[in-house]
This record gives sequence, structure tokens and C-alpha cells, in this order.
Amino acid sequence: MSYLSEYQLSLTDPEAFWAEKARELPWCTFPPKILSQDDNKAWRWFEGGKTNTAWLALDRHVEAGRGDNVALIYDSPVTGQVRKFTYAELTDQVARVAGGLKALGVSKGDRVVVYMPMIPEAAVAMLACARIGAVHSVVFGGFAAPELATRIDDATPSVILCASCGIEGSNVIAYKPLVDEAISLARHKVSNVVLLQRPECRADMHAPRDLDWHDWEASAEPAGWVELDAWDPLYILYTSGTTGKPKGVVRDHGGHAVALNYSMGAIYGVDVGDVFWAASDVGWVVGHSYIVYGPLIKGCTSILFEGKPVRTPDAGAYWRVIAEHRVKSFFVAPTAFRAIKKEDPDCALKAGYDISSLKYQFVAGERLDSPTYHWLEAHLQIPVIDHWWQTETGWSICANMAGVELMETRPGSPTLPVPGYDLRILDEQGAELGANQEGAVVLKEPLPPGSLPTVWGDHDRYISSYWSEYPGFYLTGDGGYRDEDGYVYIMGRIDDVINVAGHRLSTGELEEVVADHPAIAECAVIGIHDEDRGQVPLGLLVLKDGSNITADTLYAELVQMVRNSVGAFANFKQAIVVSRLPKTRSGKILRQVLRKMVDGEPYTVPSTIDDPVVLDEVREALAKQ
Ligand code: COA
Ligand code: AMP
Repeated sequence: MSYLSEYQLSLTDPEAFWAEKARELPWCTFPPKILSQDDNKAWRWFEGGKTNTAWLALDRHVEAGRGDNVALIYDSPVTGQVRKFTYAELTDQVARVAGGLKALGVSKGDRVVVYMPMIPEAAVAMLACARIGAVHSVVFGGFAAPELATRIDDATPSVILCASCGIEGSNVIAYKPLVDEAISLARHKVSNVVLLQRPECRADMHAPRDLDWHDWEASAEPAGWVELDAWDPLYILYTSGTTGKPKGVVRDHGGHAVALNYSMGAIYGVDVGDVFWAASDVGWVVGHSYIVYGPLIKGCTSILFEGKPVRTPDAGAYWRVIAEHRVKSFFVAPTAFRAIKKEDPDCALKAGYDISSLKYQFVAGERLDSPTYHWLEAHLQIPVIDHWWQTETGWSICANMAGVELMETRPGSPTLPVPGYDLRILDEQGAELGANQEGAVVLKEPLPPGSLPTVWGDHDRYISSYWSEYPGFYLTGDGGYRDEDGYVYIMGRIDDVINVAGHRLSTGELEEVVADHPAIAECAVIGIHDEDRGQVPLGLLVLKDGSNITADTLYAELVQMVRNSVGAFANFKQAIVVSRLPKTRSGKILRQVLRKMVDGEPYTVPSTIDDPVVLDEVREALAKQ
């Protein structure tokens, strides 16, 4: 089938299209309805279908005779280990951990927070929750205690599953003190913490709340998977929005499984038995969809890599993993390749490895800059596929579909919308823009299976964040345009979300921390261009009258505050003091103008500006920096 006919069918007859994709998976009960609306009037897929994602990802492969196939390869250069888990082994371990959760009183619909580094137990924890219908919420290990506490209060879990530490390159980061601090900060009280002690750092246990993972798992009665409704929630994944409070993106069992199963073949070009690798983190959506669920639902071998693109031990780490495990399709954020390119500009380290298994190189998470694209193309000589998506959708909105029809590549473009996504470019009034005109990138309802049906515990926020600005259209938050052939170009966020080394952050979140400093009267945090990380935050600070702190002391204190409150991965390292912030007459900070000014891009001063002189002052302060 050609891309065009597949895409058109998905829009002209979405129910027929997705019913056919749903039939590619077994069901306990095939959904009697394909598309309908729930009580909130949100579009939902596969009403009445009965399934279980853990069964789809594990047991059904064992039942089909694929129990000896390798499901997961844990490759950890930071601990010097490579461990392989067959589908049968992983199913058994997940069943035991699911039993352990049941023994702690966790049942269908209960939430479990997972705060773990890139170790197999993180995937086991997620699948164990799914097995018994509990809802997991994985929190990225880089988040500091207050961020974890916010998520605990929102998800109200009864149990936290965690490890004693994460290993980031050569740094051992103790997780347990962060968990203990988060629990003491949170209003919601968790009943139990199950802790996996890693030999690199043993943590203190607090009886009777804390349990040792190994003892707990060993004494557990294996639990079978339970039949769930297609609409039952599988997980909550918090993502940064425009305010300091993260949004709990909800994913269901049925639509998510169908969408991911489809995407593995149609987008990533892999099938049962192929080796697929997404070098992300289980704490991000890429890790959920393409380290754990997608590859396993499809019956592939997935790689869980605990390492960095560089320094574990060198810039050849990715080539080593691809060669050693015969990876067919590889997915990573461009920032990782920029790090490799910096250390090994001629890609010389690749020469030591046979990476002939690699058929497709996928990148996403941030804009693929053209030097990185050309570097990859020249050195890999395989399709380099930029694809665009976000936590909310759970899988890609635009891609060059390796398993359907590879289209011509246009650098800077993630190619064309994927079936199911009716993409439009709108101006501020909601009128559709023509070719090469930049505007808000939106998606016409209904969104395809897999996309979020609500925000956890706050459906009003779902409406106000995504559906209010342009009724009938989902606001992606990205700006962009389509060329005369419909190729989509994503130019960056038009809201207050920034993207640092592929990590999504809200400037509002950072501002709340910075504003807490006793010397700060007011502040704005903007994302500015960075050669290595794509974007990094810059703070513009207005001091309280009479503050006599030196700039160096202030900056150092702010850097530490952001590390302690949000996490080191936010890379907050730059700030300047200004006398006032440029605002509109209604008091809105002119962030876009500031960002463009700092990046040296052309900008237009809006007529609504309160006092244009402030911009000149900021320009001078930046020039002095
Ligand atoms: N847990 C704890 N700390 C973490 C962390 C985690 N999971 N991830 C990052 N950090 C810390 C780092 O240790 C570092 O701390 P330091 O300032 O004390 O040295 C800090 O956060 C900054 O990290 P980062 O910006 O990631 O820099 P880095 O030098 O460690 O690595 C890259 C740079 C490019 C290799 C890395 O950012 C990367 O691989 N990015 C890809 C991200 C990705 O896959 N995103 C998913 C979207 S597809
Ligand atoms: P996240 O929800 O963390 O996956 O971040 C989603 C955001 O990352 C998107 O809204 C975009 O701003 C950005 N993004 C992801 N993939 C791409 C891409 N291929 N090109 C440009 N921006 C991207």
C-alpha cells in the first residue's frame, strides 16, 4: 500500500482503518465499537474491547511459542553488564512482581509510582502494574525531590517502586534520599516503598514502610494478568506544560496497544524477532512507547541501554551496541549525535564495528539540525528519519514511514503526517494558512488511538490546554508550516515549553524556583539556542530594591536551587540581571521577543508593548554579558 492511500483511508474512514489495525492484535473481546465519545465527550477508541497490555507484550508471545525469543537486552556499560531476558523469563518475573504488588494491596486502578534508572526492573515494574490493572506513573530519575513530590500528590500512589541509585556516566546518584525527601514533602502519604538495592550504592531502609525488592519478589505468589477494558488507564506520565504544575498525560490499554503495534511495523519497519533500540530513558514517553511497550507488543527484541552516547566509555558506544546486538532500527534524540559528533567528528570509531544490521536511523525529541542530519546521512548511508511527536500523542504525528513507503527526505522536515493525524496550520484567528506560511500546528479531532483522552484528575485542564484555543482542533504547542508538497516543518514551541537535550521543561516551572530566591523581585526564564543541547534556559532577573548580593553569588545560588528543586538535567547555568522585564500592557512577558533577541534572530516588537525602552535596556544587558 502507498503512503498516500494509507493516509487518505485513515482520514476518510477512520473506523474501518483502525478496526483493521486492531485486528492485527488478539483481544479477549474484540471492541464492539471502534470510535465513540466518553462521558467527558472526549473521543475514545475501541469501547467495550477487552484486553491487557502486559498480556499483549508478554504472555501472548509465550503462548504463540516465542517464549525463548529474547524480549529485552539490558546493556549497561556503566556497570559492565549485558543481560538478556527471554519472553518466558520476563513474563515470569513480571508475574512475580505483579504478585508482590497484589500482596501490598495494590489492585486495579490503584496508582504506583516508579522512580528508577535504566535497569530492567523499571520495565518489569511497568509491566507488572499493567498485568494487574494498576496504573503506573514513571518519574524520570533526573527529577529532584520536589518534582517527585508534586507527582506523588497528583497521582496519589499507594506504593513507590525505586532503586537505590542511578548511574549517570561516572556519577552515582543516590535515589533513595530523594524518595525519602519527596515523601516527606508530599501531602499524600504512600504506604510502601519497594527498594532495589544496587551494589554501587546501598540505601537506608525505613521499616516497616520500606521493603527490599529481592526479598519481596522472591516471596511473591506469581499473579496472572487480568482482563481490562480498552479504556482502562495503563499509565500516567507527567509532562511540562505552560505552568509550573506538570500535566498527567493518561494513556489507555486498547488504543495505545493498537497504535504502538501499528507504528512498529508501519513507521519503524520492524517485525517479530527484529532488534529495536530506542536510546532514551524509561522516564520519558520515548522510553514508555519504544523501550517497553511498542517493541514488546510487536514481539521484537528491545534494548535497554544504561549509558551515554559518549564517555561510556567513548563516542563509539552506540556503534558497539548496534553491532553487538544486531540492531535493525535505532531511535535517539539528535542531541546525542551532536555529543558524538563533537568527540568523534569523522565518526572514526564506527570503523571498528559491523553495523550492517542497521537499516533505519530515527531521530526525534527536538528539531534535527541540518549539520547533524548531513553528518548522519554521510556516515550511516541508510535512511535518516526525523519524526515528530510528543508525550501527549504517545507516537509520531509526522514521519517518513519506513514500513509503508519511504518518501523523499527533505532536511529540516519530519516528512508527512502519519495516518490518523489530520494536520493543519492555523493563524491566530483560526484561519487555515497556505503553503510555506508559518502558524500554529494543530490536529483536527478525533486524534488517533494512543493519544491522551484526558489529563489525570483534571479534565478541565485537558480542554483548556489543548482544545480551547481552536475548538475542534488539538493544539500541539508547536509552530510550523507545510511546503507546497505538504511536507511539515516544525519550527519550535509557541508556548512556554523548552527542550533541553531532548528533555521537555516548562519555563514556568523554572521561574517558580528562581522567583523563590530572596533577592529576586521578578524573573523570566527563556529557552535560548545551544550548540550541544538544542536549547538551554536563561534567566532574566529583576532584583529587589536594596539587594546587595553579588551577581556571582546570586547566579551560583540559583543554579543550586534549580538543581535541588527541578534537577541537574535542566541545565540552568546562565542568568543576567536587568532593571525591568519587557511586557505587554496586560502584563505578559514578551518571551518570544526576548528569545529571538538573545538568539540574534529578527523579531517584531508587538504594538501591545508596555514600554519599548525596556527592550533596549535588556539588549544592552545582554551585550555586556
Ligand atoms: N538522573 C540523574 N541525573 C541526571 C539524569 C538522570 N536520569 N540525566 C541527566 N542527569 C544529570 C547529569 O548527570 C548532569 O549532571 P551534572 O551537571 O552534575 O554533571 C546533568 O543532569 C546534565 O545532564 P545532561 O544535560 O544530560 O548532560 P550529560 O553531559 O550528562 O549528557 C547528553 C549529554 C547529550 C549525552 C544527554 O543529554 C543525552 O543523552 N540526551 C538525550 C536525551 C534523551 O534521550 N531524551 C529523550 C527524548 S527522545
Ligand atoms: P516530549 O513531549 O518531551 O516528547 O516533547 C515534545 C516536543 O518536542 C514537541 O512538542 C516538539 O516541540 C519537540 N519535538 C519532538 N520531536 C521533534 C522533531 N522531530 N522536530 C522538532 N521538534 C520536535
